[in-house]
Amino acid sequence: MLVLAGISSLVTNDITLERGKLGVVENAALVVGDDNKIAFAGEAANLPREFKSSAIDINGRAVIPGFVDSHTHLVFGGDRAEEFEARMSGKSYSAGGIRTTVAATRNSNNDALVANARRLANEALHTGTTTLETKSGYGLSVIDETRSLQVANAITSETTFLGAHVVPAESQVNDYVDLICGEMLKNCAPHAKWIDVFCDRGAFEVDHARAILQAGAKAGLGLRIHANQLQHGGGVQLGVELGVASCDHCTHLDAADISALADTQGKTVATLLPTAELCTRSKFPDARRLLDAGVTVALASDCNPGSSYTTSMPLAISLAVLNMKMTCDEAVWSATAGGAAALRRTDIGNLAVGSNADFAVLNSRSHIHLAYRPGVQLVDAVFVRGQLAAGSLR
Ligand code: NIG
Ligand code: FE
Repeated sequence: MLVLAGISSLVTNDITLERGKLGVVENAALVVGDDNKIAFAGEAANLPREFKSSAIDINGRAVIPGFVDSHTHLVFGGDRAEEFEARMSGKSYSAGGIRTTVAATRNSNNDALVANARRLANEALHTGTTTLETKSGYGLSVIDETRSLQVANAITSETTFLGAHVVPAESQVNDYVDLICGEMLKNCAPHAKWIDVFCDRGAFEVDHARAILQAGAKAGLGLRIHANQLQHGGGVQLGVELGVASCDHCTHLDAADISALADTQGKTVATLLPTAELCTRSKFPDARRLLDAGVTVALASDCNPGSSYTTSMPLAISLAVLNMKMTCDEAVWSATAGGAAALRRTDIGNLAVGSNADFAVLNSRSHIHLAYRPGVQLVDAVFVRGQLAAGSLR
């Protein structure tokens, strides 16, 4: 049992409280039950008497649900600092850079891959991420994709098979698509919850993406897609057609894409990855148009060694507010409940009674500071399933 009081502002994302979408409670208390789920979230004045004596006063700090980072690529070897430097000197980003990381990943043993993925997951935890999804996609052979997913399972249960990241240098596209849909899927599916395709310029065409996602669905995997990052194409429309949980990136959208996403009524989430645009000096997605059309929007980090080498969800929130016209409330919702929706989860990303006790204590009085103080470490303590996992309450 853990009882926190003296919470200046508690973000619950619980609409049943009738305090808006974010369900913000001021002067709040939070109780974690022995099952490590939320037992009480509400005004401190209403805290049941039996909890009062064990309450820890956190002295006017804000508490938010832990971030749900629904899109990362943490299983890889090496880095691409030189490619980044070349880009900052004027070269443009292309999907081809993925092959550099494929070579480094194939040359890394499993222990090194686990250590690197853990290092990044730990970095994410310290900035408030309590759940993350992660993908294969830098192996691109049956053996290297399979072991990439085994590595991914060492850090999360939200694992995604992304054999269809790019076509590896040694293969022809048709042969490689056959391999993905056949032997690779057969070996990888037991280690994955989701399947994803990078459907974009320099990666996979719509028809190949459809065949791969349909094969994945047949193998029992949930569907997600990287769509419309580098140029406008049919990726988002394909995602909607197949009922994917999330279309990720959504940088180049037309009106038909936006209305197709809106028509899914939240079944397909648009996951925006503003740190990828930041680190590739690209235009940011039009979050305002998506939100105004009624699309469910998530924010995620896209952490990977090429286009977005950051694990920071607070940075994604700042960018979404400062450069993408999201309100502070919308951005915090999208980084928590939105990420949970993109993973089709309701037990995380909110602090309603009965949800997992995954939350962050900020060193500010309100969640607004996450956008208002860009680049500042605002997370004092992170609790996962009711246990202190990073930082401290002091
Ligand atoms: O999400 N878009 C495809 N995959 C990654 C980039 C991977 C890389 O450059 O290594 C992304 O941005
Ligand atoms: Fe990605």
